[in-house]
Amino acid sequence: MNKINYGFDASAIMRNMIIFGATLIFLGLLIPYFFDSTVLKYISYVIILVAVVLLILGTSMYVYGIKGKFKMRDFVLSKIDWKGNENVLDIGTGLGVYMIGAAKKLTTGKSIGIDIWRAEDLSNNTMENAYKNAELENVRNKVEILNEDACKLSFANNTFDVILSMYCIHNIEDKKSRNELVMKLQEY
Ligand SMILES: C[S@@+](CC[C@H](N)C(=O)[O-])C[C@H]1O[C@@H](n2cnc3c(N)ncnc32)[C@H](O)[C@@H]1O
Repeated sequence: MNKINYGFDASAIMRNMIIFGATLIFLGLLIPYFFDSTVLKYISYVIILVAVVLLILGTSMYVYGIKGKFKMRDFVLSKIDWKGNENVLDIGTGLGVYMIGAAKKLTTGKSIGIDIWRAEDLSNNTMENAYKNAELENVRNKVEILNEDACKLSFANNTFDVILSMYCIHNIEDKKSRNELVMKLQEY
């Protein structure tokens, strides 16, 4: 990876929705063309409707990946009154879009990203690629990336001034662990 790349969330799901959507549209349009049946005509309408929904969802995920992610990140970070000396934690940093965005606001502070690098959650999801992004964005000296599970955080209380997390905590399937994490974050 020699270019800045923040990946696509759930890229396999996004790709499958676009491929299935396009295939179903094609199928839905072909059915009435080949069969002269009222029932099949209505079935083709349903197929086209499902296809359109899949295409809208898949395309929205794509647009979020290339544009929306950055707009959302900038909006979230603009809500913080940055001093420049903050210690920041980004939980489920992935390729570092929030960790690096925060690092750009810092002068003496540090932006720490943690993750367990689940490939199914984000395309090209590795710690190495996150560090590569930090280098390409010229904030390598302001970030630190750790291989750490959000459910087993090792930081001492009162370590962080800002805690960020985007599209990570919902991945923790066990409700108890999710709630424990949210409670623990109050202590940081
Ligand atoms: C959808 S990605 C979002 C990545 C990044 N926040 C962004 O907005 O681009 C979710 C990230 O959460 C990470 N993740 C999932 N469960 C985690 C856990 N228990 N602890 C730490 N990271 C986790 C995944 O590996 C993935 O990088």
